[in-house]
Amino acid sequence: MTASAILREETAEDHPAIRALLLTAFQRSGEAELVDALRKEGDLVFGCIAAIDGVIVGYAALSRMSAAFPALGLGPVAVAAAHRSKGVASALLRWSLARAQDDQWRAIFVLGDGAFYGRFGFRPEPAAGFASPYAGPHFLALALNGALPAAEGTVDYAPAFGRICGRPSGVSGV
Ligand SMILES: CC(C)(COP(=O)(O)OP(=O)(O)OC[C@H]1O[C@@H](n2cnc3c(N)ncnc32)[C@H](O)[C@@H]1OP(=O)(O)O)[C@@H](O)C(=O)NCCC(=O)NCCS
Repeated sequence: MTASAILREETAEDHPAIRALLLTAFQRSGEAELVDALRKEGDLVFGCIAAIDGVIVGYAALSRMSAAFPALGLGPVAVAAAHRSKGVASALLRWSLARAQDDQWRAIFVLGDGAFYGRFGFRPEPAAGFASPYAGPHFLALALNGALPAAEGTVDYAPAFGRICGRPSGVSGV
């Protein structure tokens, strides 16, 4: 990744730039609306930004899931087109996973590409026992701070996902 990129948690001052990044990266408004709603409803646990020379070029959102143990949902993830394939999304993920681990979360779920997320330890198998509107081969989980506390049960993303993104093809991680 570009050596000058800084990874840090979002602040309120970053919100307009994050919104602009999401609108441009996805070429639609759903993901920007989703992040606004997650913040407003208190479900955004943290957002990680990547900035180069003070400009926000990447973003990842981690939100509270409904589960029997402390679990986060990852997404949306976006990188500005001019900065893609340089490891920015990977750096956002590594930062976010380390932060979630430090904060004692027990799992992160993502709806995404197994080849990409597999690099970070996400697998379909640990997610497969959970009933979810997003269940399927692209529903992946990563256990943090030990094995998953349960192998089955029900998990769901924060309500804004279903409301804004629809089901079951909601916002995916990649
Ligand atoms: C997906 C995205 C976040 C990747 O960001 P990035 O900084 O380029 O990612 P990295 O450089 O860390 O990793 C690149 C690798 O990710 C993988 N990857 C990227 N986009 C992918 C996709 N849509 N599906 C599967 N794998 C993908 C590839 O293996 C790629 O490898 P390559 O560089 O050799 O082609 C970026 O392309 C983006 O913002 N896309 C538009 C928004 C989006 O679709 N977000 C994901 C859904 S929430």
